[in-house]
Amino acid sequence: MVKTIWIGDVQAGKYDDQEVELKGWIKRERGSNKMRFIVLRDSTGNIQCVVKKDALGEELFQEVKNVLIETSVIITGVVNADERADGGHELIATAFEIIGPVNPERPFPINKESLEAEDEDGEIMPGGSEFLLDNRHLYLRTSRMTSMLKLRSSAFGAIHNYFRNEDFIEYQAPNFVTGAVEGGSTLFEVPYFGRTAYLTQSWQLYAEAAMPALERLYTIAPSFRAEKSRTRRHLTEFWHAEMEMAWATNDEIMIHGEGVVRHVARTMLEEQEQELVSLDRDLDLIARYADSPYPRMRYDEAVEILQGKGVDVEWGQDLDYSKEKILTQDFDVPHFLTHYPKIAKPFYHRVDPDEDKYVLCHDLLAPEGYGEIIGGGERTWSEEEILARIDEEGTPREPYQFYIDTRSYGGVPHGGFGLGVDRVVSWLAGATHIREVIPFPRTSRRVTP
Ligand code: 4AD
Ligand code: MG
Repeated sequence: MVKTIWIGDVQAGKYDDQEVELKGWIKRERGSNKMRFIVLRDSTGNIQCVVKKDALGEELFQEVKNVLIETSVIITGVVNADERADGGHELIATAFEIIGPVNPERPFPINKESLEAEDEDGEIMPGGSEFLLDNRHLYLRTSRMTSMLKLRSSAFGAIHNYFRNEDFIEYQAPNFVTGAVEGGSTLFEVPYFGRTAYLTQSWQLYAEAAMPALERLYTIAPSFRAEKSRTRRHLTEFWHAEMEMAWATNDEIMIHGEGVVRHVARTMLEEQEQELVSLDRDLDLIARYADSPYPRMRYDEAVEILQGKGVDVEWGQDLDYSKEKILTQDFDVPHFLTHYPKIAKPFYHRVDPDEDKYVLCHDLLAPEGYGEIIGGGERTWSEEEILARIDEEGTPREPYQFYIDTRSYGGVPHGGFGLGVDRVVSWLAGATHIREVIPFPRTSRRVTP
């Protein structure tokens, strides 16, 4: 049963004039009483199959004529190179077998009309309508979504490769936790045998506990945020690539943030050129993201730029999506923003010893209006300072006792960052909304299917 011949390879010219057996699903079909044109799809591409009544005989041809979209089939035929055909090849069928039929009373619900429906805000965004979100399990088969999932896979692979090549150790933290990492407002509460636990917002605090053991560690795991905000870049469950390293300054950590993002861009170009083209992505742009250094700018400068553009922003505020969008519209490559005000960031950020109203942190903002893809920086690493910062924030010490303890036994300067994998894929793919790049998006409005 195992499949050995892929449509992508047929279209690449590997089987010209040979008889092949193609397994796949019917994407489109049309034709006459004598001849049918069936577009067959598999995970690697599409090909038109020409099915003639003469070749199959009356009975089988009738079956082919009645076949419905998304029926799974095995079509045998001879590959014919033809410039006029989509992809440069067609298959002249010699045999046709239906494997999984489609119930004629419930034809495949996704069609041209449903693909062009409006979403809840009256906008037309790919896959954005309630109908398509309800039918997400079927929408996954569309070519756009398939391309997105392939880009996503390349991003995950590239992140693992980058960190492993840089001698980072993959390390897992619990997802049930009792303390917030990124502030309490976005915590999901979970009943936990008579107690209250939360779904983790970040791997970081538990990674810091292993930092004296492993020194350089990373993960790719889900993180959870009870985000009510309905933006094009927020999920309640997102995939978080995080790293932590001992003996590192903010500047040294940023080198890896830049390194991993550029490696993802490079890998996408190498592995998924065809998918990027099919998504109308400009390959030169992705090459620029892969090859150019990412400039660094202080928060204060960003606020000045925004104020210069007439944006209502005050020093001390964290920059939200609307502001980052305006700021990054003119960027030609991602930019780091460093030295945010202490009051805008959680307790674990290390205060700048040169000027204590700032912390030694960074956000990496993607261009084209996409905004923040990485957040990270140096950690408050001495016991005395971490206690002072927790008390200053008015945060209870109790849930963080293990974290404080790690500072009591040979604390060292260290830091790390978190990268939103879905956000990076969304930006590099040129997606209109973050839900385009994750198979079953979870947002404040949707946990089904
Ligand atoms: O900036 P954040 O909140 O930083 C942290 O969680 C740190 N503890 C990470 C660390 O230093 N280890 O989140 C990091 C990144 C963001 O830059 C963004 O890319 C992504 O995670 N992110 C989200 N992605 C999708 N949906 C959401 N609701 C996200 N919240 C954060
Ligand atoms: Mg952040």
